[in-house]
Amino acid sequence: MIVRVASGTVVGIDAYPVEVEVDLSAGLPQFSTVGLPDVAIRESRERIRSAVKNSGYKFPRHHVTVNLAPADIKKEGTAFDLPIAVAILAAEGHIDSPTLHDYVFMGELSLDGGIKEVRGVLPVALQVERMGKKGIIVATANAPEAALAESIDVIAVSRLSEVVEFLAGRLIITPLKLDLQELFHDTRRYLIDFDDIRGQEQAKRALEVAAAGGHNIILIGPPGSGKTMLAQRLVTILPELSLPEAIECTKIFSVASLLNKNETVLLNRPFRAPHHTISDAGLVGGGKIPKPGEISLAHHGVLFLDELPEFRKNVLEALRQPLEDAKVTITRAAMTATYPADFMLVAAMNPCPCGYYGDRRRACRCSTTQIRQYQSRISGPLMDRIDLHVDVPSLPYRELARPGSGENSQTIRARIQQARNRQAERFAGQVTGTNAGMSDRQIKEFCPLDEDCRRLLEMAMEKLGLSVRAYSRIIKVARTIADLEGEAAIGASQVAEAIQYRTLDRSMG
Ligand SMILES: Nc1ncnc2c1ncn2[C@@H]1O[C@H](COP(=O)(O)OP(=O)(O)O)[C@@H](O)[C@H]1O
Ligand SMILES: [Mg+2]
Ligand SMILES: [Zn+2]
Repeated sequence: MIVRVASGTVVGIDAYPVEVEVDLSAGLPQFSTVGLPDVAIRESRERIRSAVKNSGYKFPRHHVTVNLAPADIKKEGTAFDLPIAVAILAAEGHIDSPTLHDYVFMGELSLDGGIKEVRGVLPVALQVERMGKKGIIVATANAPEAALAESIDVIAVSRLSEVVEFLAGRLIITPLKLDLQELFHDTRRYLIDFDDIRGQEQAKRALEVAAAGGHNIILIGPPGSGKTMLAQRLVTILPELSLPEAIECTKIFSVASLLNKNETVLLNRPFRAPHHTISDAGLVGGGKIPKPGEISLAHHGVLFLDELPEFRKNVLEALRQPLEDAKVTITRAAMTATYPADFMLVAAMNPCPCGYYGDRRRACRCSTTQIRQYQSRISGPLMDRIDLHVDVPSLPYRELARPGSGENSQTIRARIQQARNRQAERFAGQVTGTNAGMSDRQIKEFCPLDEDCRRLLEMAMEKLGLSVRAYSRIIKVARTIADLEGEAAIGASQVAEAIQYRTLDRSMG
């Protein structure tokens, strides 16, 4: 007797239907699996056998063949435990109801017959309708994310026996329903705000420009000057996450098994701050079973790399392509997974190894050579993608003690939204959505410079020793400043401000 049960798997963050087929045939009691090359399958067989027995059912004394189709999709993970067990129980006659075919099943079994959460449930849940099914049966801990697929029935279960009873109609389980609109619009709120920051007007302005045009930025200053504090607050002035963006972020977290129990859907833009000892796989994604890295967890949000010169060279090198493409493709022997990675990069560094070069409170102990060496660690391809350099000096005590009087995040965000709207109009129908993403051709088309601007730029290039690569960065940033100010054309004042954000070009010569 052959029984087919629906399940699903994810490649990258996309879901694919998988059909679990179980065949019981005469022969020695044996349990073989086809189409599941994963090494974990041996353990899976043991879990399924124990879970079935410990739930009070007899394990078939037949030859059991399990086939997972299609064969060409690489399937990994433990999510097939539940559908395989359900198919075996159905083949044995323990489940005898057409209801079986209304659902998609995903879940790991524990030896005692319990059902545990697995990763990647949300992408599959969003495909359930397309698979022609009515709902999905998952572990209780996975149910909230599955319920983001509003039109399907999400059945939360904690034991294999419950699934059998539910399918037989002897146990009623009410589908979990979420009001996504309400959840999304009523509960989101950042716990931090721009008005927490005293002084630092130049840094705040630079972050506003960065947010407005999607520019990557580096903050340079001594320890304790507020770099981390500033970086953390960038997400609070970016335009609010839209619902489709939020679902996309949540999918990535689902695939990474990082969904927080209290947060069904990501309500706010992510802020990720990996430590400088992170590996390239941790940062961009990878591993034997590919998982999204920090750059994908930062999708639609901010990636903060504190102490940039301390990161390993190959790790920073691995960032370059994703920064270019806004996504990352990971190739493993049998499969290729692509994860989105459209994030803003905020880097921070001390001005020198001891941290106090140029500080008014403490003397720097570093030699000129040491300082040069330190700063040169970050030169090269990555710096080419950073449009704004900002000095963050330590504040004098009396300024820190003064009550804050700055604008709050909401006020700043409104200006940024306006500047973003102008860019959306400008780039309608084009690949890039922000000034930072402009190609050379687009710079020519959208950023004509008058005589004054050109003279200013030439002077900066010569007198300040700015590099050629700094040239187009400055124009893009000037375009963003003009957008913030509602100016149709770039003027000299905007170019002058943009030039100020290239301090590292100057000191690195
Ligand atoms: N401009 C500021 N306004 C308010 N508090 C500040 C400011 N700068 C620094 N601080 C305080 O100092 C602490 C250290 O700042 P932090 O952002 O960690 O510095 P850094 O990352 O540059 O080492 C912050 O947690 C904050 O309490
Ligand atoms: Mg810090
Ligand atoms: Zn120093």
